[in-house]
Amino acid sequence: ENDATVSIIVVGASGDLAKKKIFPALFALFYEDCLPEHFTVYGYARSKMTDAEFRNMVSETLTCRIDKRVNCVEKMDQFLTRCFYHSGQYDSMQSFVELDKKMKHHEDGRFSNRLFYLSIPPNIFIDAVRCASMSASSGNGWTRVIVEKPFGRDSESSAALTKSLKLYLEEDQIFRIDHYLGKELVENLSVLRFSNLIFEPLWSRQYIRNVQMIFSEDFGTEGHGGYFDNYGIIRDIMQNHLLQILALFAMETPVSLDAEDIRNEKVKVLRSMRPLTLDDVVIGQYKSHTKGGMSFPAYTDDKTVPKGSLTPTFAAAALFIDNSRWDGVPFLMKAGKALHNKKAEIRVQFRHVPGNLYNRNLGTDLDRATNELVIRVQPDEAIYLKINNKVPGLGMRLDRSKLNLHYAARYSKEIPDAYERLLLDAIGGERRLFIRSDELDAAWTLFTPLLKELEEKKITPECYPYGSRGPVGAHYLAARYNVRWGDLG
Ligand code: BG6
Repeated sequence: ENDATVSIIVVGASGDLAKKKIFPALFALFYEDCLPEHFTVYGYARSKMTDAEFRNMVSETLTCRIDKRVNCVEKMDQFLTRCFYHSGQYDSMQSFVELDKKMKHHEDGRFSNRLFYLSIPPNIFIDAVRCASMSASSGNGWTRVIVEKPFGRDSESSAALTKSLKLYLEEDQIFRIDHYLGKELVENLSVLRFSNLIFEPLWSRQYIRNVQMIFSEDFGTEGHGGYFDNYGIIRDIMQNHLLQILALFAMETPVSLDAEDIRNEKVKVLRSMRPLTLDDVVIGQYKSHTKGGMSFPAYTDDKTVPKGSLTPTFAAAALFIDNSRWDGVPFLMKAGKALHNKKAEIRVQFRHVPGNLYNRNLGTDLDRATNELVIRVQPDEAIYLKINNKVPGLGMRLDRSKLNLHYAARYSKEIPDAYERLLLDAIGGERRLFIRSDELDAAWTLFTPLLKELEEKKITPECYPYGSRGPVGAHYLAARYNVRWGDLG
């Protein structure tokens, strides 16, 4: 259906995500000529706005990412003429019916597909799905709905959400985003593993000592502490972003690159994991800190955060996969807000070289002389392998060096934002990078008992100063498994 139209309806059009990510991503796709010829973007939200005002709002969110090209501004104008606004309540059938009419008018009798992007809080999610699916899906092509976390707070609420969604949608209409799956280096994980001979044979307990998944941000939750307080860092980052990375890292070779084959393997890994207990985690919360004359607030200084909140803004956890490939290998996760830097990376520490041929040339710290593969997801994307090398010269001294694939040096093309890839895939019906409901269940099964225990026992998070490297407890946790966090040098 080359002549088909696609209507992209951004429900929650004046929200943060829409402005920061969705509109810029749609524009970037348009700029790269990746959108179908007949596409229309609709902003849907409660506030009243004319199309012109909406276009103005959208235009402020667009940047000419590839500003070397001269026609960017022209392209922006073309893009904006495809943008329309529709104001309505999220639970109003009537207003979705009116939206439907508007879309029909623009579709002009063509074969019509509809993609709803629900960029709204979970409490109004289902109402919007009900209205959209019942009143605004009269296109004669597909209707798909993109939803984004939080998918509940635990197994039960997530299952309830899935159940309600399935009253109105088939599983294959639901596109659950975990935007980390749209990141270039996360997608590359499978390429690295399965298209190179040299990694896969080493990819098991036999050669890998431990795997670390590290996420840090150098800013706190200022501005959205109220939202965050209901979830905390474990639900915000670990249960989804880091766990998805882990699943791709650890899964068995899929039968093919089909979405179902890949997701089948991911589910298997998740289901082989040992549910977490209190013993396996350390939680932290940031406190105010003054540095260089600047003062940084504590998490609880945010007016929207309840006084005395115990919500973790940092967590470290040790996870285990009880299958034959990974038995006994610690997978350590660490995620935190208000730390000293912003980074996401995967670190694979290999075992020691057996025998001691070069041990005396390596110095005393043999632990550090093992090979380490680092996949830096962001910023400044890179994949590097730490190896031992002879320092040139007449002596025999070994030195830790890097085989370094540094993206900025190797590739001149800019890396697309995760949302660009995910939107493109949703339009194309490619489900590989979206979360299937059984994956979601398995992820919650793993974390729910721990989350409940933390809350029931009112476990107090360890304090760490804003801008620091996080609570010391994270080191003790790692040390219990003979692990040293690779990001700390
Ligand atoms: C979101 C979290 O899913 O990911 C945020 O809710 C976090 O708390 C964000 O800041 C990080 O995404 P990125 O792409 O900036 O690393």
